[in-house]
Amino acid sequence: MVRGHPALSISITAVGTIRESRRLRWKMRMLVRLVLGLLVLKAVVASPRFSRQLDTYESSNYDEDPENLNGENNYEYENNLTIDEPQIEIGTLVPPRYTHPASPDNPDVLIKPPLIPQGSGGSGSLMGPNTQGGMPTCLLCTCLGSSVYCDDVKLTSVPPLPKETTHFYARFNQITKINKGDFAQMKKLKKIDLTANAIKSIADGAFSSLPALEELVLRDNSVAQLPALPASMTLIDGSHNDIGARGIHKEAFKDMPGLQFLYLTDNHIDHIPVPLPDSLRSLHLQRNNIQTMHEDTFCNLKDFNYIRNALEDIRLDGNPINLSRTPQAYVCLPRVPIGALI
Ligand SMILES: *[C@@H]1O[C@H](CO)[C@@H](O)[C@H](O)[C@H]1NC(C)=O
Ligand SMILES: *[C@@H]1O[C@H](CO)[C@@H](O)[C@H](O)[C@H]1NC(C)=O
Repeated sequence: MVRGHPALSISITAVGTIRESRRLRWKMRMLVRLVLGLLVLKAVVASPRFSRQLDTYESSNYDEDPENLNGENNYEYENNLTIDEPQIEIGTLVPPRYTHPASPDNPDVLIKPPLIPQGSGGSGSLMGPNTQGGMPTCLLCTCLGSSVYCDDVKLTSVPPLPKETTHFYARFNQITKINKGDFAQMKKLKKIDLTANAIKSIADGAFSSLPALEELVLRDNSVAQLPALPASMTLIDGSHNDIGARGIHKEAFKDMPGLQFLYLTDNHIDHIPVPLPDSLRSLHLQRNNIQTMHEDTFCNLKDFNYIRNALEDIRLDGNPINLSRTPQAYVCLPRVPIGALI
């Protein structure tokens, strides 16, 4: 062997160091690849398209309370309907409209397409039960999962709904009346949105026996009497109606331990509807006819340790009330109500 030959041993160490540096370079390359891979992954996750996909999985706009979306109740839910727009967007999908060839001069008449089998009227039917006009509800409206979207389809009454319905939207229609049986047996119904109809009367038992109902939106109607509602309510919106001094049942909200949002803006209410549950976060009563308030409307004058933490959004502006008259009324609140302190 030639071991010990100085020149050779040098060349062997040289090979060794070359091998060593190759290994090092390979390691570096793997490291760089790993870092690049992570960066690419991060970029993909952060890209708007990907996160939009995530969003659509995580939440549907319809289920979100608009005031809840950014945590704080900073923006005005009351003044503009524009905040509702993301909801309207999906809901106003043009409903399937079929015109009978025999009536070309009457394109607005909704007529059943001959090829689509008629709904059986029972739950579980793909097209849902039939409406009075003989049209299956899910053909007139859009049924997605357990939600039924009937926005802007010229409804004059509540259509029969599939029994599994949890969310019902019928905004921008011409419904004038809610009958006692309209939502009978709808044991899973959680949300009903009837914004912008022409509702004048609501049978008092129409909603009270819905065991799962949490949100009722009756904005922009002509309702004079707020109906009795179940204890499961979390949001009640009766803004822009004709609710007067006697339009709210006595102690109507007392037994709703989960009620968080009570919106009654733009009515003719002349008192704050006490007692208010401790869960309440938002009370909007602006532009009504409230003239007086008691020192114990919100707080407990017998217990100065009582703090009403949740209620941080009280709107009383636009009422003929002078909030300076009842300085003790706000001691338990995180914020003084908005209104005239004159
Ligand atoms: C919101 O409503 C107010 C009146 O209530 C109006 O002055 C304002 O222009 C509206 N804003 C939008 C964006 O429509
Ligand atoms: C509002 O109430 C305060 C306190 O009682 C009083 O000083 C003030 O004059 C009242 N303002 C009006 C316009 O009545």
